[in-house]
Amino acid sequence: MTLIDTLNRPLRDLRVSVTDRCNFRCVYCMPKEIFGSDYRFLHRDQILTFEEISRLSKIFVSHGVRKIRLTGGEPLVRKDLPELVSMLASIPSLDLTMTTNGSLLPKFARALKDAGLKRVTVSLDSLDNEIFKAMNDVDFPVEKVIEGMDAAAEVGLGPIKVNMVVKRGVNESSILPMARFFREKGYILRFIEYMDVGHSNGWRMNDVVSAAEIVKMIDAEMPLESADPNYPGEVAGRWRYKDGKGEVGMIASVTQAFCRDCNRARITAEGQLYTCLFAIKGYDFRAMLREGATDDEISQQIARIWGKRDDRYSEVRSENTIALPKVEMSHIGG
Ligand code: GTP
Ligand code: 5AD
Ligand code: SF4
Ligand code: SF4
Repeated sequence: MTLIDTLNRPLRDLRVSVTDRCNFRCVYCMPKEIFGSDYRFLHRDQILTFEEISRLSKIFVSHGVRKIRLTGGEPLVRKDLPELVSMLASIPSLDLTMTTNGSLLPKFARALKDAGLKRVTVSLDSLDNEIFKAMNDVDFPVEKVIEGMDAAAEVGLGPIKVNMVVKRGVNESSILPMARFFREKGYILRFIEYMDVGHSNGWRMNDVVSAAEIVKMIDAEMPLESADPNYPGEVAGRWRYKDGKGEVGMIASVTQAFCRDCNRARITAEGQLYTCLFAIKGYDFRAMLREGATDDEISQQIARIWGKRDDRYSEVRSENTIALPKVEMSHIGG
């Protein structure tokens, strides 16, 4: 049964955050001043167990979800994650993917593949160690992330996608080197406009480098042409190199909002359902799971929530909306 929200959008894509913890402190996501040694991360009993995630996922799939993406924080810091992957991989006709910072892929790529993960997307913001280390703020080197991508490619978790968040004055100079490098390697690089998620990153419109600027910059050296989306509601706009050698993606959620086709729901590590990346309010499913609700009751609750969904934050973003209290990226999983 397909659910439709008030703007006629189906529910197709579920993003599941498995932990609010991360081994990086990216300045645009978990700045150290806030996520320092005294920050209180969720306790083990507060986060959903693998059984709870798996049960909830099956109910979402019965409502039309066709893709589940595991996120975090950093999903691979959650203990025994391949176990969860194998539980989810047993759900029929589901595309199962993960977005990771890549640091732990050399260790886990094989186990993830064997457990049934289909693909990974790896975040990397620069090839320049000085810039990358300033952005991840834990002195993590570029080479180790690339090692992680290669480990994933080797075991068949490709085609590898790479996410680069672009922040003005910080890593613009890395746009071209990244484009050249990943074109050679055959990984699909996607540029993400820096977004005003959460309230701890001090976002300003001036920090955003628009997708149009990035396309122009790359096109001047390596001519590009636009390509059709792979599927309805794809977040990244696709651009192919005219010489036929690869493509790049642009995730222009600030300058070209894509809410019209947004078919994504998000579950936080503690089992709150959010119907928008920028939502103010979540719906507690952990309580239902732990208070003995039946699958039917949970299913009806999902249907009720999706049925009244009217989110389109990126389309209505303004000076007023930027100040709204939003959930942190490390909670909601990007
Ligand atoms: P694939 O098409 O399967 O590769 O998935 P994807 O592009 O949705 O995956 P990924 O997690 O790599 O998404 C890339 C980034 O785009 C996210 O991390 C977010 O920063 C951003 N993004 C994804 N979905 C949304 C959305 O619904 N709204 C907004 N505003 N940004 C989104
Ligand atoms: N704006 C844009 N992208 C962000 N990400 C994290 N925070 C932000 C932000 N403020 C990206 C990460 C990762 C994905 C999950 O979201 O770099 O690729
Ligand atoms: Fe961690 Fe990803 Fe946030 Fe960086 S962007 S701090 S890697 S969750
Ligand atoms: Fe979907 Fe909200 Fe992003 Fe718009 S802003 S695309 S509604 S998650």
